[in-house]
Amino acid sequence: MAPAPSDDLEPLLGPAELATHVAELGARISADHPDGVTLVGVLKGCVLFLADLARTLTVPTRLELLAVAPYDGAAGRTRVVKDLDRPVTGEHVVLVTSIVDTGLTADFLVRHLQRGAPASVAVCTLADKRARRIVPVDVAYRAVDAPDGFLIGYGLDYAGRYRNVAGLWAADAAALAADPDRHLDRLVPRDR
Ligand code: IMP
Ligand code: MG
Repeated sequence: MAPAPSDDLEPLLGPAELATHVAELGARISADHPDGVTLVGVLKGCVLFLADLARTLTVPTRLELLAVAPYDGAAGRTRVVKDLDRPVTGEHVVLVTSIVDTGLTADFLVRHLQRGAPASVAVCTLADKRARRIVPVDVAYRAVDAPDGFLIGYGLDYAGRYRNVAGLWAADAAALAADPDRHLDRLVPRDR
């Protein structure tokens, strides 16, 4: 018998658990940045996390956004496709990203931000796949250590799907590759 689609999908964090983790990160970021902070979100995966995190901060906060092209293993680099709108010179910057996997993107972006001479740069990630690091990244703030498997939901996508799911789920990448829509009925129900 073929396995049910849900066999390759596990809930990792529900909306209430995510809110608790985000509030804890927000309290730590606020405590570490009493004079204020500039959150630099990495599009598009950061969007839900950034919106929730920003609302928990208790210090003056600026929001900036940037976007990168997916890491190109053949070219051996990534690149910024949407840069900061203004310099962050002298500001305390927290890079807000949905996931640190190999670390190549976060390492690249920290170096990119440092060229603008901020007072500091710290990395904040929703999920951290520490076992998969190629490049070391100093992650100051992490909500969750990611398990094996591909994460979707709460901003994280597979082929553009699932970003608008309220919780974070662990899925099987091979099953998603075979059918990218396989979890839509469960995670994005039409009657939700
Ligand atoms: P890096 O390997 O640390 O450079 O991460 C590259 C990018 O891969 C991340 O910013 C995500 O966009 C994507 N990515 C890596 N793992 C996952 C995952 O489990 N779910 C969704 N996207 C992922
Ligand atoms: Mg993606």
